[in-house]
This record gives sequence, structure tokens and C-alpha cells, in this order.
Amino acid sequence: MLSFEQHTPTKVVFGKDTEMQVGKLVKEFGGTRVFIVYGGGSVVRSGLLDRVVKQLEAEDIICRASGGVKPNPTLAKAKELIAESIAFGADFILAVGGGSAIDTGKAVAHGTANPDKDFWELWLKKIPLTKSLPIGCVLTLSATGTEMSNSAVLTNEEIHSKKGLSTPFNRPAFSIMNPELTYTLPDYQVRCGIVDIMMHTMDRYFCGSAGWGNELTDQIAESVLRVTIAAGRVAAKNKCDYDAMSELMWAGSLSHNGLTGLGGIRDFSTHGLGHSLSAWFDTAHGASLSVLWGWFAEYVWREIPSRFARYARNVWGIVEEDDEKAALAGIKATVDYFKELEMPTCFSEADIPVQSEEMLATLADAPTANGTGTLGSIKKLTKADAIEIYRMANH
Ligand code: NZQ
Ligand code: ZN
Repeated sequence: MLSFEQHTPTKVVFGKDTEMQVGKLVKEFGGTRVFIVYGGGSVVRSGLLDRVVKQLEAEDIICRASGGVKPNPTLAKAKELIAESIAFGADFILAVGGGSAIDTGKAVAHGTANPDKDFWELWLKKIPLTKSLPIGCVLTLSATGTEMSNSAVLTNEEIHSKKGLSTPFNRPAFSIMNPELTYTLPDYQVRCGIVDIMMHTMDRYFCGSAGWGNELTDQIAESVLRVTIAAGRVAAKNKCDYDAMSELMWAGSLSHNGLTGLGGIRDFSTHGLGHSLSAWFDTAHGASLSVLWGWFAEYVWREIPSRFARYARNVWGIVEEDDEKAALAGIKATVDYFKELEMPTCFSEADIPVQSEEMLATLADAPTANGTGTLGSIKKLTKADAIEIYRMANH
């Protein structure tokens, strides 16, 4: 087992009607002027934003709400909201929505606390982030795990670059998780979320052998996957099933708060490659992962056949003694499950129009720092490897 640190300070308040505690929670964490960040309007239509504002006002907390964050949130929108938040004099950021609203909320917290710094330079860690504002979340979509994670992702549209920032300042002070708030989701987003939850565990479980050896972490990861797959099957048919939506919501948080990879190393290649699809074609995050994972797995499994075989046996119940056959059966079971969820598993199914070799190479630029870096730990993927995986998916 490798040495590790785990600090997940987020106070989780889980269950029905928990959004009614938002005023008290903001007060508990010292907020007096709250800037609320939300998305394209789902929280207005559902009445959630109204309930949240009323709870804040009941605690004499001054607040201002600003929306318009789109999926695959942009740097430009974050900067706009940072300016609003500074002008308002916010001392606390509250994000109400899915991963895009929450990640933008995290960006607004950092930007508001550092008005004199170049924000993109902060995001790329060219300037160290040394302070931020506290952030709270009311989650409406189970997927990204951002409600407990130390990361946030923005797209710089000018250069087609979607980049994550990992910092302890990204861990929310509190997250309100009421599974009933997810009932209004479009079916497609529920399914994208299921893939994302699985991938956050798989991108830790499938790693170079230096990261193996923590049996407890491995069994937690396998359990999170089994439960997510089963709850996902129920949720895909009935997104108003409280138990299934609850399992998914909690699995989403545990998948990406660090727990499923403790004492190991990670391989987030599929995420890195997927972000380029989102940056160029606005592909939904979960879809970028379902499109690529099967091809990525096919490309790398021979490096660690026993790991893929263990996954096949312990997650999918595949009975096969031969490691290589088991590994391939596990990859097939995963891709079949994505298909069962009606998620895309190649470019054409996700409306990703790549027609030239040149474009495949362009896609590979951002994840490999223009060919100067590598991705992942199973096999250190070069730009040429990345191009090959995109080529496999391009039909
Ligand atoms: O914008 P609104 O109107 O709210 O509608 C959203 C959006 O259209 C809608 N939605 C969300 N909750 C709803 C709802 N519609 C009805 N009822 C509800 N309860 O769903 C659509 C997608 O929302 P979005 O927030 O974009 O989805 P998601 O939660 O999947 O977030 C995706 C973003 O998070 C990043 C992704 O890359 C992507 O940019 N990620 C963030 C991570 C992190 N911070 O740790 C980790 C992930 O790997 C991921 O990269
Ligand atoms: Zn993800």
C-alpha cells in the first residue's frame, strides 16, 4: 500500500428536504453576503432557487443569484461571474445545480478572493492559489462528484482547452444532497451521470501496478461499481426511484472524493482524452467517457491483464479462469452496459464529426501538452497513442 493523505472536510447533508437547511449551513460556515451561481434555468423552473433564497433570507443573509452557466462551463462565463461577485462583495459562494454550476462556483470563489491575479494563470497553477472563499453546494445531478472533490473543470473556448484544477480549496464547506432534486433531470443526463460515476472509480482502479496492493480500497471500488451498475439499471428506467437515485448520488460523491483510490495511483487518461472532445464538440462529459473507454481499454489492457481480469470477475461476476479471456469479457460487459444505457460508444453515435488525420492530431494536442507530455500510468500514452485511441473510436 502506498502512503496517502485524505482530507475530505465537506459536511454532507443528505436526504429529503435538506435544501431547507441551506440558510443555517451558510451561517455555520460564516457566510453573510452570498453569491449564488446556477446553470441554464432548471433550478428556476423547479422552484429550487426560490426555496434556497427564501431560506437564506430567513436567516437575514444577503444574497444575489446569477445564472447562465452552460454545460462544459467556460472561462469567459466564470470571469463574468467573478466580476459580479466582486462588485457584490461576496464572502461566500453557493452553487445550486450540476457539476457545471458547482465548478463555476468554485472558480468564482477563487477569482473573488484573488481579484488582482490573472485568473487563467491561477487555474493552470502558473500562479499558486493561496486563498479562496468558502463554497457550499446544493447538488441537482449525480455524476461528477464535485460536491466533495478537490477539482473543478473549465473550458477556455478561445484555445479549445478544457482543463481541471485540483486544489484543497475546491473542497466545498458543505454539500446538500437531496436525491429528489434529481427527478427533473433529462434521461440522457441521468445516464451520462452513471457513466461518470463509474469512470471516477475505474480511472483509479485501473492504474499501473505500482498502485496496486490496497485490498480495502480495491474492494470499496468494486463495491461502488457494483452498486452503481445495479442502481443505474433501475434509474435508467425510473429516475423517480428514491432508493436508486440515492445510491447514485452517494456513489457519485464517494467515487470522486478520493476514497476509491486511496493508497494507489490514478490513470485519468479517458478523462483527459474526453475533455478534448468536449472542448471541440461540446460533447457531454459522460458521453465523452462512454465513447472512449472501451477503445482505451482495448489499447492498454495487455499491460495489466490480471487487473482487468479481477475487475471482470469481481464487478461483472464473469466466471473465467484464463486472465486474458476474463479481461476481454470484462471490457465487453462494460461497453455493453454503456450501450444498454443508450450511451454512445463511438464518435458517430455522439455526433462527433472527425474527418481528417489532422483533426485526430489536433484532438490529441491538449491532453498531451502538444506532444510534450504523456497521459496515464497503465501505459504512458504519448500523442501518437492518443491519436490511435481517437482513431479506434472514430467510426
Ligand atoms: O444548466 P441547467 O439548466 O441547470 O441544466 C442542466 C444541464 O443542462 C441539467 N440539469 C442539472 N440538474 C438538473 C438539470 N435539469 C433538470 N433537473 C435537474 N435536477 O443537466 C445538464 C447538465 O448539467 P451539468 O452541470 O453540465 O452536468 P454534470 O453534473 O454532469 O457536470 C458536468 C461538468 O462537470 C465536469 C465535467 O467535465 C463537466 O464540465 N466535471 C467535474 C468534476 C469535478 N469538479 O470534480 C469531475 C468530473 O470528472 C467532470 O470533469
Ligand atoms: Zn468525470
